[in-house]
Amino acid sequence: MALSNPVADVPFNITRLSHVVLTSRDLDATRHFYESGLGLEVTEHSAEHLFLRAIEEGAHHSLRFDKVARDGPGEVRAIGYRMFSDDDLRRAFDWLSARGDAPTWVDRPFQGLTLRVVDAVGVPVEFTATMPGPENRMRHFHTHAGGKLVFLDHVQIATHDVQKAYDWYIDLGFRLTEYTANDGTDELWGVWLKRKNNTQDVVYSNGAGPRLHHLAYHTPEIANVIHGADVMASLGLAETMDRAPGRHGIGNAFFVYYRDPDGHRVETFTSHYNVIDKDHPPTRWDLSDTRRSQIWGFPAPKKWFYEASEFEGAAVIPPTLDAPPVTLEDFLANS
Ligand SMILES: [Fe+2]
Repeated sequence: MALSNPVADVPFNITRLSHVVLTSRDLDATRHFYESGLGLEVTEHSAEHLFLRAIEEGAHHSLRFDKVARDGPGEVRAIGYRMFSDDDLRRAFDWLSARGDAPTWVDRPFQGLTLRVVDAVGVPVEFTATMPGPENRMRHFHTHAGGKLVFLDHVQIATHDVQKAYDWYIDLGFRLTEYTANDGTDELWGVWLKRKNNTQDVVYSNGAGPRLHHLAYHTPEIANVIHGADVMASLGLAETMDRAPGRHGIGNAFFVYYRDPDGHRVETFTSHYNVIDKDHPPTRWDLSDTRRSQIWGFPAPKKWFYEASEFEGAAVIPPTLDAPPVTLEDFLANS
């Protein structure tokens, strides 16, 4: 393993995770799950697309669904990030081109200039600096529904080579806040990487990949996480819960996970913390320490570790690190 110092002199400024582009077989079912269930706001719904966002988001969308006719689980088309300005995008295009990453300019609805590039482990990422949206619902308290989700916070992606992903994002100015390493070694199992002020914008974890493990929306109260689960149950969506409420050691997050109608996993959570100061060191967790995933003691079920959404057109590669996590099924078998 090689942990790097944060790179502060990158010639462009990535500010945060922005949005995720997913496929859906049935936009009405997807809308019911995210709008009626989780409480997100629909900003556009056509025959081909569905766009959603959360309460505090001023941009047009943080989730875009593209309708597809094919059967089977949903796929991922892009992970979106924001840069500060179009000049940052242009500098990034030159910088990525010079080192052979082959970026392209793409047109995307409701977005300004958008740069697309594939990262070191096969994930398509798209950067934009402008995404004008209507006035948000922050002060329209009577409209806050479901889990009262306020912003898209992070994504977690399974990859065959965590070290390779880590090196690519560190070069782009991302910073490590927490990480999991194989016991007795320095082999990276997972890295929590961030640009904004808190613990993560993107997590890369060991597994067959690239596959999107989950996307996560933040809410400011534990009560909202629980109320969101009550709302899902009262709508007949209780079976979509993929992992019951608990608290991660990593990130200190109080969480619950669901699977949407196309199998995409969504976390609603609260309680992670600020990381801003240069001398705030990253926290190491041993892979065998189940508190990293569930500080109350019960590990996650096997499906939570092994099921995820594939990226459209990207071959899934087995992990280079043979380090299976401790699952709930393992825990119960040994109890
Ligand atoms: Fe998460």
